[in-house]
Amino acid sequence: MPRFPMSDRVTQIHPATDQAVAEAAAVIGAGGLVAFPTETVYGLGADATNDSAVAAVFAAKDRPDFNPLIVHFADTQAVARTVIFDQRAHALARAFWPGALTLVLPRSPDNPISLLTSSGLDTLAVRVPDHPVGRALLEIAGCPIAAPSANRSGTVSPTTAGHVAASLGGRVALILDGGPCRVGIESTVIDLSAAEPVLLRSGGIAAEAIEAEIGPLAQPESEAGPARSPGMIGCHYAPRTPLRLDARNPRLGEVLLAFGPDAPTLAPGEVLNLSATGDVDEAAANLFAMMHVLDAASATAIAVMAVPEIGLGRAINDRLRRAATAPD
Ligand code: TXA
Ligand code: MG
Repeated sequence: MPRFPMSDRVTQIHPATDQAVAEAAAVIGAGGLVAFPTETVYGLGADATNDSAVAAVFAAKDRPDFNPLIVHFADTQAVARTVIFDQRAHALARAFWPGALTLVLPRSPDNPISLLTSSGLDTLAVRVPDHPVGRALLEIAGCPIAAPSANRSGTVSPTTAGHVAASLGGRVALILDGGPCRVGIESTVIDLSAAEPVLLRSGGIAAEAIEAEIGPLAQPESEAGPARSPGMIGCHYAPRTPLRLDARNPRLGEVLLAFGPDAPTLAPGEVLNLSATGDVDEAAANLFAMMHVLDAASATAIAVMAVPEIGLGRAINDRLRRAATAPD
């Protein structure tokens, strides 16, 4: 029998009571891993100042170590001590933190964050999350928490504790269950490390809202070129079932991921509607949970109706395009 040292551990799922959060903070303090809810998706957290704890995050996810992690903080003051926080960063923090926005900024000298967290880059991705459980964990643990989404690398991000257990069961000691994530799609990532702000990943805060604060955002030069955000590899969000985009009706053997009031009427089990009223925020909150369900339906493909390219629709379409890109 081959041995899988990480998978013979038992994973505990605890409702996020005060006592469970205190226990989770102690696990983080001792260099262990905890999965916890944020308003975007569940994170797999470790003490960001502890090299071996951060290494354990990469190992649990099977994550290539060139893909750096986001560091989560309890408040903007703690962030500003760790990175070089300019005027634009202050404007965005005032407008959107706590919230679904990640800023990439130069590390300040002598900051205590493990170099492994940013995979050797001289910048750090930082965020103040807006979830009572995530914030309580950060405050009680008393350290910044490095946390990628709590799923195996290359799979769909988790928006419930059950998704985390299905992907990482045996690889994380404790999952704090705070119910389904409100936003349901990962944070928007903005690179502020150069003169021109760059949208590295569309996400839970609409790009239009960010542009209203700091002006136009540039797009990354090319996805194939030198990676400014190494996590944006094509097939990052792939379910096992192939996706067929811009569909109107499912073909024989397919299931439908619908959007809006014009969805065809089908038998239950053949269709899930991201938002029957055509609301892109509601669609973002449902996206990953519905992809998990349809992926488990043993269909030949998931046919996906078009989602408008406005507000969070951009982030939804980005994730759908990546999910439709077959792995090499
Ligand atoms: O909503 C979220 O952002 C969730 C929750 C848990 O906070 N986290 C998340 O983390 O989605 P992850 O690791 O799955 O995605 C982090 C993204 C990746 O695309 C990564 O390449 C990028 O942020 N990133 C991290 N550090 C970076 C850096 N220094 N420069 C450029 N991109 C960076
Ligand atoms: Mg991820």
